[in-house]
Amino acid sequence: MLKPIKFLKHFLISPNTTGALTPSSEGLSHLITDTAELANTSMVIEFGTGTGVFTEKILQKISDKTQFFALEINSEFAEQTRQKCPKALVYEDSAVNARTYLEAAGFQACDRIICGLPWASFDEGLQNALLQTTKDVLKPGGKLLTFAYVSSLLLPAGIRFRKKLYATFPKVSTTRTIWMNIPPAFVYCAEK
Ligand SMILES: C[S@@+](CC[C@H](N)C(=O)[O-])C[C@H]1O[C@@H](n2cnc3c(N)ncnc32)[C@H](O)[C@@H]1O
Repeated sequence: MLKPIKFLKHFLISPNTTGALTPSSEGLSHLITDTAELANTSMVIEFGTGTGVFTEKILQKISDKTQFFALEINSEFAEQTRQKCPKALVYEDSAVNARTYLEAAGFQACDRIICGLPWASFDEGLQNALLQTTKDVLKPGGKLLTFAYVSSLLLPAGIRFRKKLYATFPKVSTTRTIWMNIPPAFVYCAEK
């Protein structure tokens, strides 16, 4: 029970950055990482690990040859992810700075971004900056996987994010909804 309570604490302290009351479910964690088709990738990045629920699945699904790192802005969440997934390289920084860490790892671009950022809590400037970074660091044909709560489609910032996503990437698709997630959520798959 400690982890959900900690998560709630971070939501109460910083609702727009945390963007959720509780970590994503097993069902959503499997859906986002399966939709990413992680086999045969060279470089995978995760944005916004929270407690590491997606990180754990990513590490199970990438091959030994795939390089992986994550960016988490909240120091407690970054540390929780390191404890849950000792093999994960987790930097405490904003996803906006992804290129710096990518180049430090010797790469110019990545195959996949698995993203847990709360887009519908972000203002337009931050949505623009993060979408710009995402497009910049993905290879041609590379994919962004990110989730949205069904309820966010009623929020102005959620609607704005959806429009920007479709305007930024030539191909965008959505998955089925995980109704057992709290709240129910689906995954966007955007291909550069
Ligand atoms: C909705 S939670 C999702 C956490 C986890 N992926 C999950 O699904 O349970 C969003 C996470 O993104 C992190 N975050 C918010 N803004 C960020 C940014 N600019 N760069 C990196 N992480 C960020 C928050 O601290 C939080 O851990």
